[in-house]
Amino acid sequence: MTYDETAVDKAIDRLLTEHPHLDAADDGVLDDLDQFHIGGAGAVDRLIPALALAGGDRVLDVGSGFGGPARQIARRTAHHVVGIDLAPAYVEAARSLTAKAGLSDLVRFELGDIAAFRPDRRFEAAITMHVQMNVEDKTTWFGRIADHLAPGARLAVWEVCRPRPARLPWPMPWSLDGTDSFVIPPGALLTAIEDAGFSHTEWTDESLWVRDWIAATFAGGPPAGPALPMLLEDGYTRVINFATALTDGTLEVWRGSFTKTT
Ligand SMILES: C[S@@+](CC[C@H](N)C(=O)[O-])C[C@H]1O[C@@H](n2cnc3c(N)ncnc32)[C@H](O)[C@@H]1O
Repeated sequence: MTYDETAVDKAIDRLLTEHPHLDAADDGVLDDLDQFHIGGAGAVDRLIPALALAGGDRVLDVGSGFGGPARQIARRTAHHVVGIDLAPAYVEAARSLTAKAGLSDLVRFELGDIAAFRPDRRFEAAITMHVQMNVEDKTTWFGRIADHLAPGARLAVWEVCRPRPARLPWPMPWSLDGTDSFVIPPGALLTAIEDAGFSHTEWTDESLWVRDWIAATFAGGPPAGPALPMLLEDGYTRVINFATALTDGTLEVWRGSFTKTT
């Protein structure tokens, strides 16, 4: 099963011990480790303006992983962020990294399925990054997100799409063998999200930006410090396969900004 790693928290502690000069409280210091999507912190920065945060707005991060995007949004905007994720070890690691970053007052994480989530009130904004690839019934899933958003709330997404039928090299970051992968063309994904109760204000192919990011990020080889593949089963192969499919156009990355309509 994908996302089945255990003791991620311990692995992070070991990596931090091996790199004592790193202070987990410093902005950006763990970007190579805790941003579980292509494009790193730069991708999150591309989503934040669409959230149009104001006043006491709170943000829901669906499929929050190790919590890098949630902490970045809190740091940049000082708004409260709640992450929810299905993987127990990931939620534990996200909580621990958030405590190390001194952000526990602004950011918290829930373990579980969005369908069973019972927040005390609805959110004014949400993000989801690189999660829907594991979801077969995308309209129902985005509908569960809509259920937790106030009327007029904003949703920003950063998503992997497959523009045309093509064989993918497994493992990928979201799937070890393809049995839990449901990657669809960008037009079909846009329709699924809109059918769930959203209208789009932006739907943009970010593949060129992503290819430039890959070239710049890996120009000198893999990052020297703690890095995401060190936490994942078969991590380096997954990252290399993904980068190859994005570079040759087999996969694309699309950024979307939506408003809840219903
Ligand atoms: C590729 S990671 C992305 C993590 C995070 N969004 C980020 O960009 O750093 C995908 C995450 O989605 C979670 N996930 C997969 N399916 C999910 C679902 N149906 N509901 C909530 N989380 C899910 C996984 O446990 C994993 O942490």
